[in-house]
Amino acid sequence: MREFLKDKIFGLISEAADEQQQECYVIGGFVRDIFLKRPSKDIDVVVVGSGIELAGKVAAKLGKKAKLTVFKNFGTAQVKHNDLEVEFVGARKESYQRDSRKPIVEDGTLEDDQNRRDFTINALAICLNKNRFGELVDPFGGLEDLKNFVIRTPLNPDITFSDDPLRMMRGIRFATQLGFYLESNTFDAIERNKERIGIISRERIVDELNKIMQSRKPSIGFVLLEKTGLLELIFPELIALKGVETKDGVGHKDNFYHTLAVLDNLCEQTDNLWLRWSALLHDIGKTRTKKYDKRLGWTFHNHNYVGEKMIPEIFRRMKLPTNEKMKYVQKMVTLHMRPIVLSEEEVTDSAIRRLLFDAGDDIDDLMKLCEADITSKNLEKVKRFRSNFQLVRKKLKEIEEKDKVRNFQPPVSGLEIMETFNLPASSIVGDIKMRIKDAILDGIIPNEYEAAKAYMFEIAKELGVEIPK
Ligand code: CTP
Repeated sequence: MREFLKDKIFGLISEAADEQQQECYVIGGFVRDIFLKRPSKDIDVVVVGSGIELAGKVAAKLGKKAKLTVFKNFGTAQVKHNDLEVEFVGARKESYQRDSRKPIVEDGTLEDDQNRRDFTINALAICLNKNRFGELVDPFGGLEDLKNFVIRTPLNPDITFSDDPLRMMRGIRFATQLGFYLESNTFDAIERNKERIGIISRERIVDELNKIMQSRKPSIGFVLLEKTGLLELIFPELIALKGVETKDGVGHKDNFYHTLAVLDNLCEQTDNLWLRWSALLHDIGKTRTKKYDKRLGWTFHNHNYVGEKMIPEIFRRMKLPTNEKMKYVQKMVTLHMRPIVLSEEEVTDSAIRRLLFDAGDDIDDLMKLCEADITSKNLEKVKRFRSNFQLVRKKLKEIEEKDKVRNFQPPVSGLEIMETFNLPASSIVGDIKMRIKDAILDGIIPNEYEAAKAYMFEIAKELGVEIPK
């Protein structure tokens, strides 16, 4: 263990704790991550005594280069040194009242402190005092759980989750990030205590959701959230996608599991959190647009537009950012069928130009989303889609190089139209401008100023707009 405690700071903490004659341990995520071979720069130190005093001593030993911050209200202190951040806290015993997250905190022993932690794998501690330096203290079999890929609470899970219901989400998040299993008692307790998630702030919930979204395979987390009943409470729109309805012997695909498959597919291609959210929400409008038609079977007409409109409400409620990130997700959801439709039909230059114009710089992201959306079990069909997709990609490249319509602004502005024809701001100005844009996108005229201006005169003539003398 000593090799992981080589940094000078551990030696100084050890010295300071011995001088104060207090037991001192490094605990929590840092210790867990040693065994998971995920080196971490965030170190939690627990001392059986005052965390603030110990931090002060350590900072003094480190000298000028250390930065000490004291959080008096919490009884904690932080020391920053080089790229390490060490949080000092006194060992605590906590008890909670049923309807509050505010604990009654008392000083406690190391054992008390380990008892109040969320999972056995997060309750591991390593002693820093000189005579026991490097000794692992593992009262709940956390090391064994790490080896067996198990998430389990140290105490009766009903108590651990009731103390802090966010831990139910943390458990699922760790299972997703690490590819671990939720031990069955722990799983059952989440199911039993799920309603308690209601006392947790949306910000903390979405923080965990985002960590699930940033994992290699987020579907693990969403399936657990669904099975424990938490998803119904925090994200009902997603649960509404679940299930298959059959009429006249015709069923549709389960849109919940399809969505998760698309999300996992996409996660192999990108770390972009907002593109991942776009995958999670791409079919969110399907519940509201589902119809059965005797001739066509199941249809979800306009589910992309309906989905786009549902997003602001979802983002507001979830406390996700309602800024340009949300707009990007909306754009992806609206456009998510365009490349696939193109790949099914004959690809015309005009359709490609329009797609480039509408997607702008996000075209590559859109193509990734669209490709991830192909989840058919019919291998022939998948093969056909993929090769058509390559054609669409090739065309996109050719047209972009030739016509440069990505992010293009019509070369003749509204102001120029108004000044040329002495027109007030009016719908006719908008009409002329739109027809110039359409002509460029349809390839009737090139994307150039002179051609656009000449075309402007043509349209004006057609519309009977007079040219002032
Ligand atoms: N902890 C807890 N209950 C919580 C949050 C944290 O018991 N709701 C304890 C755990 O022992 C955890 C430690 O506090 O290991 C530090 O918490 P935090 O820094 O949030 O998490 P890490 O375990 O370090 O993991 P991550 O950084 O991935 O969140």
